[in-house]
Amino acid sequence: MTDADPGTLPTKAIGFAEYGGLDVLRPIEIEVPAPGAGQVRIAVRAAGVNPLDHKVRSGSITEFFPVTFPAVTGYEVAGVVEAVGEDVTAWQVGDEVFGAVHGGGYAEHVLATADKLARKPAGLGWEQAAAIPVAAETAWRSLDLLAVEPGGTLLVHGAAGGVGTILLQFARQRGIRVIGTASEANHPHLRDLGAVPVVYGDGLAGRVRAAAPEGVDRVLDAAGLGGVLPLSVELAGGAENVLAIADWQGAAEHGVRFTGGTEPADYQGPALAGALALFEGDGLVLPLHRVYPLAEAAEAQRESEGGHVRGKIVLTVG
Ligand SMILES: NC(=O)c1ccc[n+]([C@@H]2O[C@H](COP(=O)([O-])OP(=O)(O)OC[C@H]3O[C@@H](n4cnc5c(N)ncnc54)[C@H](OP(=O)(O)O)[C@@H]3O)[C@@H](O)[C@H]2O)c1
Repeated sequence: MTDADPGTLPTKAIGFAEYGGLDVLRPIEIEVPAPGAGQVRIAVRAAGVNPLDHKVRSGSITEFFPVTFPAVTGYEVAGVVEAVGEDVTAWQVGDEVFGAVHGGGYAEHVLATADKLARKPAGLGWEQAAAIPVAAETAWRSLDLLAVEPGGTLLVHGAAGGVGTILLQFARQRGIRVIGTASEANHPHLRDLGAVPVVYGDGLAGRVRAAAPEGVDRVLDAAGLGGVLPLSVELAGGAENVLAIADWQGAAEHGVRFTGGTEPADYQGPALAGALALFEGDGLVLPLHRVYPLAEAAEAQRESEGGHVRGKIVLTVG
């Protein structure tokens, strides 16, 4: 038997030891190591819940997102820096930060890469801060990859979720006109963000043409549902004008680019800066659909899996 590494910290988490349904999620204890080069350890106050979490837990995306067990999902957090790697100068113990992490967010402590974090303004709540990083990075990356010109028209499938809600605000800043699909109940939300809402489902192409008689320049499929890629390719005048973030199989089938965040460019830094600029300017709109304590992470994932989140679901920790 060897002595425990004095740098590791026993940490309460909600994790799983096998792929499966919500019932595989259990309270577990994990060992979080001392931060290495370029890392900080964060005492987590809140963790964002994303559809990625339940997809990873169910085992439906193991071919490009395998995990080792016991696994702890949670890819964005807000919290307090409690230890820094020896080469880290940007952060000090006690700093309040938020940002993306490589899993492990459903826990009281997590390791983070120092340059993936931003300082949390005092006026930004823990839950609100934890809701930002994944949606903001994805939205920023999608807009950059789509390269919509100012004055151009973008159709967004699934505009009322976490990614869509932030993307609409970044798009407005860039002078892009957005047609967004959502259920009727979310149309006021989309209108408040400057988008033109249309209902998804049968007859969608006709509704989009009515909303944008001059046509759409680009399409983002942020829903990955309902087989919308063929009509998207037609509306945008070619597969090269369409980007998918959820339906990778459909994207491959229809010659559409899929982005999973593996591009070499850093989108996280500009995205967090962009979200903070909104927060400090006209205001960042990111409704908290529901907030759960960490112990109810399974309920949070049940809600997320239902597919009708407006804004974000967040877990409070500690
Ligand atoms: N590739 C990447 O890098 C990346 C990064 C982040 C997220 N994602 C993926 O992108 C997707 C969206 O993420 P998210 O965080 O925005 O999800 P979310 O917050 O759970 O949003 C779900 C939204 O989808 C809408 N929706 C449900 N059925 C729809 C349909 N048939 N057509 C259009 N919209 C529909 C819902 O609106 P209504 O309630 O109005 O129906 C809801 O607002 C997820 O599949 C996620 O895994 C990928």
